[in-house]
Amino acid sequence: MSTDFDEAAFKAFEREGYSRVAETYADKTAKVTGQANETILNSVDAKAGTHLLDVACGPGLLSALALKRGAIVNALDYSPTMVALARRLCPAAQTWEGDAENLPFEDDHFDAVACNLGILHFANPERAVTEAFRVLKDGGRYAFTCWTAPSVNPFMGLILGSIQAHGTLDVDLPEGPPLFRFSDAAECRNVLKKAGFSEIDVTEAPLIWPFAIAEELVHELPTSTARLGPLLEAQTQGRAARLSKPLPMAPKRSRQKASSKSHRQYLSPLD
Ligand SMILES: C[S@@+](CC[C@H](N)C(=O)[O-])C[C@H]1O[C@@H](n2cnc3c(N)ncnc32)[C@H](O)[C@@H]1O
Repeated sequence: MSTDFDEAAFKAFEREGYSRVAETYADKTAKVTGQANETILNSVDAKAGTHLLDVACGPGLLSALALKRGAIVNALDYSPTMVALARRLCPAAQTWEGDAENLPFEDDHFDAVACNLGILHFANPERAVTEAFRVLKDGGRYAFTCWTAPSVNPFMGLILGSIQAHGTLDVDLPEGPPLFRFSDAAECRNVLKKAGFSEIDVTEAPLIWPFAIAEELVHELPTSTARLGPLLEAQTQGRAARLSKPLPMAPKRSRQKASSKSHRQYLSPLD
């Protein structure tokens, strides 16, 4: 699928954004999104001796869990700040500053490739999925997660619904790929199959985002997310004030979706 936006501008925006929020992302958001890591590692059958690549590793929580299982871990992210955090958390892993869409590894190198909540941030996800397939050994496994759509995801419904109700989604930020493209299981299967994967599974996994009142979340997101944060920050003062009032929904839970494949397999959780 060709993109109709400026991929380089989007990449630079996200890379700068994740570098800016890396510390707070590690302290807050990653502890929530990290709830998917066990599911992902089970999907790729990560165990002692598994040669695993953590793509878009962020601060390295998935890598840390894989190391605990005895896996041999390589962790890659294009944000230097995230890579520094991953290196600090996982001194036993080999860390790389690099692009998921152009992996610095030979063909047929890994038993498993894992990616928690990276796919929706890739300017060209097809390229990243093809790269995952390329670096996997025959029979290797791949798992990724992405968010389910706001219609079935109270967390995203809360954020985006509130902006729609009280603000605007039409703000001057670099255009990127659709946030919820991989919430569609058929789309996951399609992209994975085209890249060469077989035995594909797509499943949903729950995520609990704890906050006492909705306002907490609205204040937290700008300092700990690269895409939703700037969207909130780009609201006018009046809109921002309305957004920080109680929001239309107060969900307790959001769900992640996961898909998996074997024989050069992957699972694509979808958060
Ligand atoms: C939502 S965070 C997920 C981080 C981590 N996997 C976790 O679960 O906490 C997305 C990460 O993807 C990284 N990223 C986005 N696009 C990338 C790309 N093209 N190549 C490598 N990393 C990328 C960002 O720097 C960021 O660390």
